[in-house]
Amino acid sequence: MSDPQASPQVYVVESSQALAADAAELFVRMARDGVSHGPPFRVALSGGSTPRLLYGLLASDTFRQEIEWENIQFFFGDERWVPPTHRDSNFKMANDELFKKVEVSRDNIFPIPTESLSPDDAAAQYEQSIRRAFKVPEGSVPAFDLIFLGMGDDGHTASLFPHSDVLNERDKLVAAPYVEKLATHRITLTPPVLKAGREVLVLVAGEGKAATLVHVLEGEENIEEYPTQLLRRAQGKVTWLLDRPAASQLKGQYQAR
Ligand code: 6PG
Repeated sequence: MSDPQASPQVYVVESSQALAADAAELFVRMARDGVSHGPPFRVALSGGSTPRLLYGLLASDTFRQEIEWENIQFFFGDERWVPPTHRDSNFKMANDELFKKVEVSRDNIFPIPTESLSPDDAAAQYEQSIRRAFKVPEGSVPAFDLIFLGMGDDGHTASLFPHSDVLNERDKLVAAPYVEKLATHRITLTPPVLKAGREVLVLVAGEGKAATLVHVLEGEENIEEYPTQLLRRAQGKVTWLLDRPAASQLKGQYQAR
């Protein structure tokens, strides 16, 4: 088990719009630093509603020109078990909000396969595509340059839900858990990969997250109950961007941005 990482950077911003703007600025800086240390800059995108604003901003005139799109490879932290054209698809959301609007090569976009194969085969296939892109053999864990994550009201992150077996996965990079509460499979990066990210940027917005965030950031460690706590054992740098409603029940003093 890795040692707990140095305390994470936690910032509170006024609104979800300000959160997206801060995340976009951080992405530009991280991507610029990452590319300067040797392209490609490999990022894992998260799904859900919070990052949608971010992806739209990155594609906007304000940010689009700041990024060397040709030096970035886009992966996904998790995916819903739906076709890539389905309204719930994380790929569809990123494609509509970002990929269609910027000069990123399709060769540098790595969607999680969700058609014409079983969930387990999809996970295995995605794992192989990650191993090929990172050139890491079996037994090694790739280090994404940046992993975007969100947190659900129930404390899940990516598709690592409370009390799921995948929380104890130590070898696979990608798994296909059946999520009882959603009555569907998900495809997700596993804890070892999330913990190996050089930078992890966690975006949490909305009053609905406030009670859970107290447990995740300030409570006793109970990763089975609050999977996002696994980031306490991250090897890289973890930065949390919270909007004020999500941070409203926290007891600690956190930096405003
Ligand atoms: C997904 C995400 C998931 C998300 C959280 C928070 O596929 O839905 O990967 O882990 O980050 O559910 O979602 P919101 O940002 O929409 O609250």
